[in-house]
Amino acid sequence: MASPEIDLTVYPDECDAYGHLNQASFLAMFERARWEVLARGPGMDFYSRQGVSLVVRKSVVEYHAPGFPGDVLRFSQLLVHLGRTSFTLRQTARRLRDDALRATAELVIVCINQQGAPVPVPESLPPVMAELPLPGNLRRVAVNGVNLAVDVRGQGPAILFIHGYPFNHTIWEHPVANLEGWMRIAPDLRGMGQSDAPDLGYSMSTYAEDLLALLTTLGVDRVVLCGLSMGGYIAFEILRRARERVRALVLMDTVAEADTPEVRKARDGAAAQAREGGAEAIANSMLPRLLSERSRGEKPQLSDRVYRMMAATPVAGILGAIGAMRERPDSFPLLPTLTGIPAVVMVGDDDEITPVDRAQAMVEALPNGSLSIVAGSGHIPAMERPEITTALLSRFLSTLPRPG
Ligand code: MLT
Repeated sequence: MASPEIDLTVYPDECDAYGHLNQASFLAMFERARWEVLARGPGMDFYSRQGVSLVVRKSVVEYHAPGFPGDVLRFSQLLVHLGRTSFTLRQTARRLRDDALRATAELVIVCINQQGAPVPVPESLPPVMAELPLPGNLRRVAVNGVNLAVDVRGQGPAILFIHGYPFNHTIWEHPVANLEGWMRIAPDLRGMGQSDAPDLGYSMSTYAEDLLALLTTLGVDRVVLCGLSMGGYIAFEILRRARERVRALVLMDTVAEADTPEVRKARDGAAAQAREGGAEAIANSMLPRLLSERSRGEKPQLSDRVYRMMAATPVAGILGAIGAMRERPDSFPLLPTLTGIPAVVMVGDDDEITPVDRAQAMVEALPNGSLSIVAGSGHIPAMERPEITTALLSRFLSTLPRPG
């Protein structure tokens, strides 16, 4: 059973001199919402009936955007960790009228007895604490101030799939379902898919920090990185920060250089388009260039699916990604330094956005790189030619030394 959502109104007496919901009042609202969940479920005395008191040992609040008098905030909560004597709750506050994220709070709560000594969490932890369900194999992982939705499957050495813009983890459906013998990790980036979409705080560094923290939380030390397009830009950032954690690299339909002034101008236009016309406007303008002529002809339902995926992306995530791509550094000089990291550059032979000659240039700059061309594909090979893409990935992975 999912935890009920609690709606609370912001009152003027909770606001500061600037008319913003005061941070201490915000913390109190998070507390009020937790009590409400108990009040509407098993009762406010649920824990005391079992001889247990709850104390907050740690609270971390991220204020993503202000609240104002009259705003109705919708609070949801989920259990992100259950220990022996403590548990961690993650709460999210969104503005009801537009679902915009306002703040998140993470609390470590310890169970104690009347003498103040820690005691085991009651076995009958109320069902209202149960983790909110996500579709399919997705699970929520709290990292770096946001909840990421992540598809994790299989055992073995790990491969991290990083999707492009404005997509989500489902572009990797085929390799994630089929690469047996590997732990396949396919997150939705912040701002996309089912992950949280804060209003602010997007950059290549933030995406990279999110993913490194995700790997740490999943207990993964070293990984094969597989990034598509913007996912490749993030892979470069991960390499800059933690190359010792990268066993091998798959760069798919991506480029290494920073944006040119013309591309930056186009990004500004896309941001204006997203603000005015929402995600649908972005989906409409991108769709014609994404898929190969062959995919468009042979797989009309794929165009619909890609459109729906893009149109469902939160505008905050779209704007964040546009800004992050616009400001990203030139990663081309990084390529020759990647000695000891086996790499394959894959690209659809009909990719208009990141064409084959750009892929070829990266292969030439890499000390240990090869080129794999996906015949009949445009910008999203894992969706357009899933079997071929998974076979090429599998062939590359089979050349890597197994970790000792
Ligand atoms: C992507 O697929 O991630 C984007 O097309 C990349 C970009 O716009 O540079």
